[in-house]
Amino acid sequence: MLLHNKVILVTGAGSGIGRGTSKVLAREGAILFLTDINSDSLQETIKLIDSNEKIESLVVDVSKENDLKLMMETIVLKFGRIDGAFNNAGISGPSSEFKDYDDLEFDKIIQTDLKSVWTSMKLQINQMLKQETKGAIINTASIGGLVGKPGISAYIAAKHGVVGLTKTASLEYGKKGIRINAVCPGIIRTEMLDQLIKSGTMGTEEEWAHLQPIGRLGTTEEIGEFVAWALSDKASLLHGQAIALDGGFTSS
Ligand SMILES: NC(=O)c1ccc[n+]([C@@H]2O[C@H](COP(=O)([O-])OP(=O)(O)OC[C@H]3O[C@@H](n4cnc5c(N)ncnc54)[C@H](O)[C@@H]3O)[C@@H](O)[C@H]2O)c1
Repeated sequence: MLLHNKVILVTGAGSGIGRGTSKVLAREGAILFLTDINSDSLQETIKLIDSNEKIESLVVDVSKENDLKLMMETIVLKFGRIDGAFNNAGISGPSSEFKDYDDLEFDKIIQTDLKSVWTSMKLQINQMLKQETKGAIINTASIGGLVGKPGISAYIAAKHGVVGLTKTASLEYGKKGIRINAVCPGIIRTEMLDQLIKSGTMGTEEEWAHLQPIGRLGTTEEIGEFVAWALSDKASLLHGQAIALDGGFTSS
């Protein structure tokens, strides 16, 4: 197993990529600390995981600094260390032309999708530096962290920011034994995507699938398989990268 006995934190574990990845991490032997803003969906994820490994959970709003501090204090209290973090929770926000984009919505998306990663990484890096075994961090960015898309300027700005934080932190902490990378999912079948499709302003499922040269949407487990490997000691040379898992979307 790739992650036997490794203590791994997941944010946004109650749905979509966080849920699918948590299942894979459990299968690979991780000791999981799962968090989400939604208590019910978090419990549902735990029920879905077919694992004898220990799972702890906490309701956390990543847009609140105090929740993030409590999250890190709790994981260290329970397990004495953190070996890996998957900073994944995020929102997509409304779709609107740039000139009309609501300022409050912009602030909310930056707080939830970017500032949360900044604060989480600071807390995680501080803890890992104190540990003998250090650790690895994967941030969920997006192909929206690599290219633009009309209508979702705040999201695109936040995800480009996540890639920037990932690269900069990797340069500062590589020699200190902490590996830091980002995953940039393409179009993955999740509730977030379902909401965008239902909004009627962002295209149909077929149109989304057509954007990926493989001709289909990705699955949450496909992201999970990468994250499990990237957090494991097998990925010892992977550092400072923003890896697109997008069925070829960003090749064109
Ligand atoms: N679905 C895609 O196609 C896609 C593509 C690229 C990137 N992403 C990114 O993947 C990540 C996960 O998205 P998803 O598609 O699985 O969406 P999702 O809506 O299915 O899951 C997001 C989870 O995050 C939780 N969450 C939302 N706000 C939170 C907060 N403030 N604090 C804590 N938890 C919160 C939700 O309750 C939910 O369980 C996001 O960062 C998203 O931007 C998704």
